[in-house]
Amino acid sequence: MNTRLQHAAQLVQACNGPVQHGRVQGRIQQYECAFDWRPESVALARRFTRDVLAELPDETVGDAQTCVSELAGNAVRYTHSGQPGGSYRVRVERTDAYALVEVTDQGNDHGQAPEIQLGGTESGRGLWIVAQLGDLTTIATPDGHRVSARINLPNAHPADGSG
Ligand SMILES: Nc1ncnc2c1ncn2[C@@H]1O[C@H](COP(=O)(O)OP(=O)(O)OP(=O)(O)O)[C@@H](O)[C@H]1O
Ligand SMILES: [Mg+2]
Repeated sequence: MNTRLQHAAQLVQACNGPVQHGRVQGRIQQYECAFDWRPESVALARRFTRDVLAELPDETVGDAQTCVSELAGNAVRYTHSGQPGGSYRVRVERTDAYALVEVTDQGNDHGQAPEIQLGGTESGRGLWIVAQLGDLTTIATPDGHRVSARINLPNAHPADGSG
């Protein structure tokens, strides 16, 4: 394991909750970590993402960090994940063709769903930005939502990552 991945593994150990790290399935490598409710955890989630993806092009790593920042920020801001005692999960997946970041939150009392805003104002741009950087997917879970962004690597054929 290289130094970056060692660091990611240490960060995983520092996180709360059950953790799987370094799982390799075929050519997919994935790391998963639970982060707690405090807003400062968003910076940790960004760092976790950077460390897991460190060997990919800088542009991809930066885009993935932006996405995780927006998605984790939303989880903390709009769901029980951001209430004292709450948490959210971040999964980062890496293949030869793409990087994927996924945030699973604990939902809120209104059953509100993440929704891209097209109002053109300064706020309400987070999910729009994520959708410009990658393929944005939202799935409802029993508690809340799982939102992911898949970012294709430069020069990779999108089909490479599906098999
Ligand atoms: N995880 C989530 N669970 C429930 N609702 C969400 C979640 N993420 C986003 N939303 C809803 O979708 C809207 C759009 O989110 P988006 O991130 O695009 O903008 P924003 O958070 O309002 O502003 P910005 O990200 O620009 O600071 C939010 O205002 C919120 O109502
Ligand atoms: Mg937002």
